[in-house]
Amino acid sequence: MDIFAHRGASGNFPENTIAAFKEAARLPVRGVEFDVHMTFDGQLVVIHDESIDRTSNGSGFIKDLTLSELKEFDFGSWFSPDFSGEKIPTLPEVLDVFSRTEHLLNIELKSDIFPYDGMVEKVLDIIQERGIESRVILSSFDHSAIQTAKNLMPQIETGALVMEVLVNPLSYLQQIPADAFHLLFPTALRPSMQEIIKQQVPIRAFTVNDPEHAALLKEAKVQAIFTDFPEEMVSFFP
Ligand code: G3P
Ligand code: CA
Repeated sequence: MDIFAHRGASGNFPENTIAAFKEAARLPVRGVEFDVHMTFDGQLVVIHDESIDRTSNGSGFIKDLTLSELKEFDFGSWFSPDFSGEKIPTLPEVLDVFSRTEHLLNIELKSDIFPYDGMVEKVLDIIQERGIESRVILSSFDHSAIQTAKNLMPQIETGALVMEVLVNPLSYLQQIPADAFHLLFPTALRPSMQEIIKQQVPIRAFTVNDPEHAALLKEAKVQAIFTDFPEEMVSFFP
């Protein structure tokens, strides 16, 4: 079972910051997961929420702020004074952290709340420029974004994020089309998902911070887990 550092090593470092990614980059985990939004001036930034209110000393939606406005804010102090001065990273800045490692890069396109016109194309351009197609898994709750990505770059691996149990998951996956399901961890243990796993479709589960839950998922042959505590988890599942 593969381990992905969720939002970087976000249990011990402020999520989706360079500090959290540098920590993930030094760990022997299979990959890292992070979230992408688009600014008012069309720049791709790595942050979970659609607003900066929770994880910075500022407020407002990403879509209404320019990159230079966003760079003024502190994205570390909310977590701990030890990280004061952490800036919001751009997608290229995060990819730079992993430019000399072999980690898989799960880029979650956060276009499910605001549509971010042209975001998929910009993400694919960056992937292509850097030649990292084989290391990227694009995922989203916005399945139209996955569809657009697959149309433009058929070789890119994709994961459909779903919260609810689907009636016919396999045919839905083919319809999108996506290569895997990314699910809340209890959903990954449902019988319908076990059927999917038997058909060699990868299931990845989030967010798994309890090694006992991870053990159940490993037993169920879930392909990967996303955890906020990658260092601890990799010690249980090396
Ligand atoms: O990609 C897995 C997981 O990160 C999805 O949920 O809300 O943590 O982005 P969320
Ligand atoms: Ca995410």
